[in-house]
Amino acid sequence: MSELRDPNMARINTPELAKAFIDEQVKAIREQVGDKKVLLALSGGVDSSVCAALLIKAIGNNLVCVHVNHGLLRKGEPEQVIRVFKEELGANLIYVDAVDRFLDALAGVDEPERKRKIIGKIFIDVFAEEAKKLDGISFLGQGTIYPDILESHGIKAHHNVGGLPPELNFELVEPVKFLYKDEVRVVGEALGLPHNMVYRQPFPGPGLGVRCVGAITRDRLEAVRESDAILREEFAKEGLEGKVWQYFTIIPDFKSTGIKDNKRTYDWPVVIRAVNSIDATSASIEPLDYKFLARVTDRILNEVKGVNRVLYDISPKPVATIEWE
Ligand code: XMP
Repeated sequence: MSELRDPNMARINTPELAKAFIDEQVKAIREQVGDKKVLLALSGGVDSSVCAALLIKAIGNNLVCVHVNHGLLRKGEPEQVIRVFKEELGANLIYVDAVDRFLDALAGVDEPERKRKIIGKIFIDVFAEEAKKLDGISFLGQGTIYPDILESHGIKAHHNVGGLPPELNFELVEPVKFLYKDEVRVVGEALGLPHNMVYRQPFPGPGLGVRCVGAITRDRLEAVRESDAILREEFAKEGLEGKVWQYFTIIPDFKSTGIKDNKRTYDWPVVIRAVNSIDATSASIEPLDYKFLARVTDRILNEVKGVNRVLYDISPKPVATIEWE
């Protein structure tokens, strides 16, 4: 099959066009796969979720989804994947709690690219181990999208290191590989996936691991997860959800003094980052309203354990990157 999109293919931007695409892909998947089984790593991100929903529609329980929880997901994400795919769509979903395995391997590792490599490698190991336990898998589903093909030198290719081991060397099924991100979202909505899953902000493969700066510790990781959840909740309340490219919190690996209940504390700061971008190669900061920032700060300082200070990162890319690692 050609690796380029048919130049005559219409941009999928309406529910009707999405429905026609879905019907066409369901047919194509059935033709390619027949009654064989397909394995898919389902992270809960937009691309893998839409790919999974399409495959479920086409082949039902002959799709085996594996959701690996590496402990670096955002608050509520593993639960949402299980709820949407297992309970609502009736998917054949294997949930792997690999939190300890990832966090143990990452203990004491402070070099960002080494952290990424470890996360990438263990992810593949865990996924390959699950694949080995299964009988009769013939295909590997993948949520490759068109920019991944076009930008083989782009962000994903640059960051997501490592190829697939021989035990995962199945023929690929890539039903959304000619779609742009906005089209994947329209198709996802037409498939009935929740809006917040389909329209979620970009989230790096190594997840919160690159926002817990330096060597990851469980308590700092929890503080990143909790503060991120608060920030996202407040963005939604403020009507900013979907209007800002990326917003999240970071916890650097240094402490500063504070005061609570008349006692001195020595705790971490939380950094708020909110940026706008077209393609992540450059970014400008979102000028968040001061009262909004004060409200978020108040909640973080009251609700998140182990932190005593909130900072707002106003650095554009370049010179700063979007993530801190
Ligand atoms: P930076 O920090 O390089 O990030 O300005 C640009 C975009 O890429 C995302 N990002 C990643 N995505 N794996 C990914 O899949 C990664 O390791 C990774 N690191 C950064 C980042 O969130 C931003 O959208």
